[in-house]
Amino acid sequence: MIQVDLSGIPQVKLARKTYEELACKAYETLVEQKGAGGEFTGWLRLPACYDKGEFSRIQEAAAQIRKTSQALVVVGIGGSYLGSRAVIELLQGPDYNLQPKNTPDIFYVGNGLSSEAILHTIAALGDRDFSLNVISKSGSTTEPAIAFRLFRKLLQEQYGREADSRIYVTTDKEEGALKVLAQRRGYTTFSIPRDVGGRYSVLTAVGLLPVCACGVDISQLLEGAAQEMEALLSGSQGNPAVAYAAARQWLYSRGMTTEVLAAYEPGFSYMAQWWKQLFGESEGKGGGGIFPASVELTADLHSLGQYLQDGMRNLMETVVYFEKARRDVPIPYDQEDLDGLNYLASRPLSQVNRTAMEATKQAHIQGGVPVMEIQVPDISERSVGALLYFFQFACGISAYMAGVNPFDQPGVEAYKRNLFTMLGRPGYGPGIAGLPHF
Ligand code: PA5
Repeated sequence: MIQVDLSGIPQVKLARKTYEELACKAYETLVEQKGAGGEFTGWLRLPACYDKGEFSRIQEAAAQIRKTSQALVVVGIGGSYLGSRAVIELLQGPDYNLQPKNTPDIFYVGNGLSSEAILHTIAALGDRDFSLNVISKSGSTTEPAIAFRLFRKLLQEQYGREADSRIYVTTDKEEGALKVLAQRRGYTTFSIPRDVGGRYSVLTAVGLLPVCACGVDISQLLEGAAQEMEALLSGSQGNPAVAYAAARQWLYSRGMTTEVLAAYEPGFSYMAQWWKQLFGESEGKGGGGIFPASVELTADLHSLGQYLQDGMRNLMETVVYFEKARRDVPIPYDQEDLDGLNYLASRPLSQVNRTAMEATKQAHIQGGVPVMEIQVPDISERSVGALLYFFQFACGISAYMAGVNPFDQPGVEAYKRNLFTMLGRPGYGPGIAGLPHF
């Protein structure tokens, strides 16, 4: 189970108790599904109550992709792709595509509008056999819709009539342009439950199909999430997600407006992207909300480290630490010791990494940055499933504490409206708002 260590927060009692009580109230609101957006809390019990038939179909489709394809192209943006990328990079390594393996390489498109990026992907894909998994809950998001058109055409050029059997669609059960297209062409289709929003959908077909195709054991992933779910749903007292939500909201009230998520694993970088979307879209509303940022340590100690230690004191830091290294490497002994490193010889690198974490944590606390630590047992399917669920749960509580709906994203619409107007989409007339007065 995920643990939280809050000893790196100053022991000032002022109003802290109130925040703990507020967090317990928010916990009730979340688990009873009676708060704003309660109709989108399908993810809450999903790890135990998922559609078993759909789950088997996901495993079959993943096996088919592995059999027929050297590459899988995932088309999606935001909640429709960050989760799968996060899980794959953490569990299979950020250099997954470069590794020798018997699972397909993975490419992500439709998460932007850069022609440069899409041409790079097409070049990297080369003449490999590939399948497409297009993921969009609404079925109408511009970025993935354009990429799907492009890659569908590529598939058709490469495979002719067989192309359709290489397309896997993950979308709403009933509605949307993608659903209509999938029905017309007879694509293999998976449904995103109505009551699960994009950024809470990693444990549905949205995340499960790509990660399964890349060799991740999705039964274990769900098992880990289910175990975490049981623990977190068993009450608010001594609940680490409640404690984390209470602490971050209390710190926010004390002027810590930015939360920096730090991990000591390069494979975590897309988990951090997923986390930023989860918290940013859930909480950044009504002129408020903690700004979610992230760093990769120790690399960023040599860039942003200066700011963390010494810059504006509006930061709180959350360290995600994996307690047990999956693999380790001892530091070699060198006869000459010209680099002066023999004092570390034969120590496992993971030990040095842990010491760096502890040393940095202490330095940041001394520098005036409160540090929360989230302890994850290891880098395994079970632990990653547990961590995903933990963050979703904590995010729901934290957003309710802040008095906002954790499950909508009204702010995302503004750019879309402007984009459609400027591109001349039918039905979108003139009328882009001018500059506001600051
Ligand atoms: O969390 C969300 O709901 C959003 O980030 C969506 O995932 C994102 O906008 C993509 O939407 P869609 O899946 O409808 O293409």
